[in-house]
Amino acid sequence: MRALVQERFGGPETLPLRERPMPQPGPGEVVVEVAAAGLDAGVVHLLEGRPAMVRLSRPGREGRVLGSDLAGRVHALGPGIEGFAVGDEVFGLACSGDGSMAEFARARADRLHRRPDTLGAEEAAALPVSGCAALHAVRDAAQVRPGQRVLVLGAAGGVGHLAAQIARADGAAVTGACSTGKVELVRELGITEVIDHTREDPLERGPFDAIIDTGGHRPLRRLRSALTPTGALVIVGSEPERAIAGGLGRSALAGLLNPVSRQRLVMLFSHESQEDLAALLDLVEGGRLRPTVSARYPLERGAEALASLGRGRGTGKVVVTMSEPW
Ligand SMILES: NC(=O)c1ccc[n+]([C@@H]2O[C@H](COP(=O)([O-])OP(=O)(O)OC[C@H]3O[C@@H](n4cnc5c(N)ncnc54)[C@H](OP(=O)(O)O)[C@@H]3O)[C@@H](O)[C@H]2O)c1
Repeated sequence: MRALVQERFGGPETLPLRERPMPQPGPGEVVVEVAAAGLDAGVVHLLEGRPAMVRLSRPGREGRVLGSDLAGRVHALGPGIEGFAVGDEVFGLACSGDGSMAEFARARADRLHRRPDTLGAEEAAALPVSGCAALHAVRDAAQVRPGQRVLVLGAAGGVGHLAAQIARADGAAVTGACSTGKVELVRELGITEVIDHTREDPLERGPFDAIIDTGGHRPLRRLRSALTPTGALVIVGSEPERAIAGGLGRSALAGLLNPVSRQRLVMLFSHESQEDLAALLDLVEGGRLRPTVSARYPLERGAEALASLGRGRGTGKVVVTMSEPW
């Protein structure tokens, strides 16, 4: 089978398309024939070894297939699999090392969900990592309640466009911040108050009950000043140029201040589960969540797809698809 294989840390141009043995499912795992693979900033971090901490925690990336999000058809079952059969259409997360930027990927059954016909493969592949981060940011970390004012910084981005829709679905009055060219996209999501952050500081529209921060790397002090006295700041992430810790210094400071503040200051550590995928599917089927796929690339152009993610300036989700048309 063909796969984009990581042979060293580097930019997308270092990712060659190679022939590779079929992945074998271990206990509790299945092999999925990939129809579409969703990309996100995390894949780029692992590819580039950036921030530098990634290199310490993940040495020896040689010979690995990157990519987490996938949608496709179950091809083979490992020992102990119940609830899935060969031929089932599924979506979810690939295992580390035999990832989704390949024709076949290995996945844990408890991180997969059946994909109904009502959700296309590309849209399904756009959901897992970004959707789970958005879900946890809005529901668990910010604990958004109906009627609250919620600001989503980066409301057109991979996580942000899903977080804005989930907050709206949960009854919040959502303000979305994005750059000029993305204002229409955010409006089309059903967000009525959209701020072009290149023309106006969205924090000036506060106070907000919650801020979901997915871009811009604004100082903690500024973000907190735009919150109500008991509001919640959820730092999902940002892409500053600093090499060693990336945006983590600001998040760590938020964690330190949280116990002594009336405001809730959360550094999000997202995780994904079958239950989360079911919750996302429930929102999609209820017409309250729609992933935006902004670009599609064939596997041969996967490196180009990764380069297009744009280091913290993404628009919706980018997917690699195994079938035409692109
Ligand atoms: N903590 C976790 O568990 C977790 C999970 C998933 C992702 N992340 C991290 O979260 C971050 C966002 O991920 P993503 O996939 O959503 O990235 P993305 O698709 O690039 O979205 C980031 C968005 O932020 C916007 N932005 C940039 N500067 C801004 C500013 N000054 N004000 C307002 N918006 C601004 C960008 O577009 P415009 O500038 O054009 O508006 C872009 O749409 C990344 O750092 C990622 O690694 C963390």
